[in-house]
Amino acid sequence: MNNDLYAVVGNPISHSKSPRIHSLFASQTGEAVEYTAIQAPLDDFPGTVRQFFERGGKGLNVTVPFKEEAWKLVGRRTERAEKAGAANTLYLDSDGVLTADNTDGCGIVQDLVRNRGVRLDGARILVLGAGGAVRGVLGPILAERPAALTIANRTVTRAQGLVELFTPEAGTARLSACGFDVPRGPFDLIINGTSASLQGDLPPLSPEVIGEQTVVYDMMYSLQTTTFNQWALDQGAQTVYDGLGMLVEQAAESFRIWRGVTPETASVIEELRND
Ligand code: ATR
Repeated sequence: MNNDLYAVVGNPISHSKSPRIHSLFASQTGEAVEYTAIQAPLDDFPGTVRQFFERGGKGLNVTVPFKEEAWKLVGRRTERAEKAGAANTLYLDSDGVLTADNTDGCGIVQDLVRNRGVRLDGARILVLGAGGAVRGVLGPILAERPAALTIANRTVTRAQGLVELFTPEAGTARLSACGFDVPRGPFDLIINGTSASLQGDLPPLSPEVIGEQTVVYDMMYSLQTTTFNQWALDQGAQTVYDGLGMLVEQAAESFRIWRGVTPETASVIEELRND
């Protein structure tokens, strides 16, 4: 029997860990899955997606820079994808309609709550950044019922835009926007969702946002401690995590959507850490 075909689409794509993660999931669960990486031309993401499904492909993950384009392309979106404004998981639904989901928010919440034992319920959370990466995770984080969530961004108007967009999801959480002159630290949890470190930059935050109990989570990951997490450690943070667990958890949720089987993730995170 032939394996069902899945892939991640991005540009560039050679660095992607998704094929490795999904092949570990497949061997662990015994699912007949083959998972490859496809580099789409920057000007023809839709053509790449169309060809993939015309050839019988079952599901795609989408990564930089196509997540917003994927969201626009489809005929249907799940509720969480609708709000996220970006899609990282595509499949044909039972009517054959190209459907988009977004599993990034689920991924970060799973990693924080289940893998790391971080309490989001009642927490005071600072989120840095207001781009696509942050928009993708705000809904699932708010669903955990934090006491307060502050969005700090270099461009304050973008943070304010997200506050407006997510006020209906906020429940009793106090949702606010500011620049990097963040009032009222320290926070229980700080999530870095900016891409500042790609330019070797750090958001210019006051050290007062960090206390001994503050958990710091950088959505980026790297072999070494990330620039942001190193800054946090230098300010006295005791607990810092990078986004490798989120990467594996968002993949596990995609796998569950496609296959109806939830893979075990701890051993996969461990394997990737040792790669
Ligand atoms: P992504 O999909 O990674 O979120 P994005 O939508 O381009 O990409 O958003 C990048 C985020 O990182 C934004 O919040 C951006 O701040 P602005 O909205 O002010 O542009 C933030 N960012 C990028 N470079 C930064 C830097 N050097 N310092 C601080 N924030 C930065």
